[in-house]
Amino acid sequence: MIEDSFGRIHDYLRISLTDNCNMRCFYCMPEEDYDFTPASRLMQTHEIEGLAKLFVENGVNKIRLTGGEPLIRKDADKIILSLSQLPVSLTLTTNGVRLNHFINILKESRVHSLNISLDTLQKEKFQLLSRRDYFQQVYENITLMLQHDFHVKVNMVVMKGLNDDEINDFVEWTKDQPIHVRFIEFMPFSGNKWSSNKVFTLQQILEVVSRKFDILRLQDKKHDTAKKFTVPGHAGTFAIISTMSAPFCEGCNRIRLTADGKIKNCLFSKEETDLLTPYRNGEDVMSLIHKSIKNKAKELGGQFTNVLENVHAEQILNRSMITIGG
Ligand code: 5AD
Ligand code: SF4
Repeated sequence: MIEDSFGRIHDYLRISLTDNCNMRCFYCMPEEDYDFTPASRLMQTHEIEGLAKLFVENGVNKIRLTGGEPLIRKDADKIILSLSQLPVSLTLTTNGVRLNHFINILKESRVHSLNISLDTLQKEKFQLLSRRDYFQQVYENITLMLQHDFHVKVNMVVMKGLNDDEINDFVEWTKDQPIHVRFIEFMPFSGNKWSSNKVFTLQQILEVVSRKFDILRLQDKKHDTAKKFTVPGHAGTFAIISTMSAPFCEGCNRIRLTADGKIKNCLFSKEETDLLTPYRNGEDVMSLIHKSIKNKAKELGGQFTNVLENVHAEQILNRSMITIGG
């Protein structure tokens, strides 16, 4: 078992397959020109398999593949198939652009649930946020995945003045479609133009939704990061991921492995532990994993608290989101 110094068991591994992406969302990519990591410095397929197996032998029972965009990696299908042989629940976070090419692989790999990022239901705004014209494709792929009976969660990062006016459009979408919308509070990462006044909080989201709908709180599961709700009679649900205003660190069971093979013990951790180099050298990697998790801070990487006005993004030491993978 992988346990931290606060007694939290870490049984959920998120593996980033690449820091590259076919979109350019401003809140995820750094402002300045960004050089993607060259392939030789990324974990190779067999290294991902080897490291994942080690984690599983030490208690990990859930693996999520992330990016950048995981489905642009050339061998994404091989990796998905191979990890599906492990005794884990395997899932994926994707921007949805290439999902139509992966339906069979996902079914074969028993991936039932998908997190798809979509921050707006307006084509022009999509282009503004992501600097790519893929709205139609993503929207159609969401529909396609529903037709194929996947459990679809839609991640919507709420940013004040940008898309907070669409919250109820997303809730409306759950009326006839069994979609699970997740409103995510905007988080600060290196170079992502964050400021506290762009955060639209849990409380504010609930106020907006309550003005239009009667809502019912659903029961949380132990490690849930999202507070779940439904509108009685709707086919789908919605949830709020309140990292900034009401963090849920006490139930955290996550370990992150970056595409270049480094452990991050928290989304906001300053430090990273390189596993790939020692793994390539045949050294003992497991003790490094335990040590990294033992050093995990209690909350938010030890870098800030939920008093939003006191969060100064430029003082937080971290990577950009695209190199962490969410
Ligand atoms: N704040 C909140 N969520 C973010 N994501 C990316 N950057 C941020 C941010 N700054 C989300 C993406 C995706 C998931 C991996 O993380 O939209 O759904
Ligand atoms: Fe790509 Fe997702 Fe980042 Fe947008 S948020 S740039 S889709 S990885």
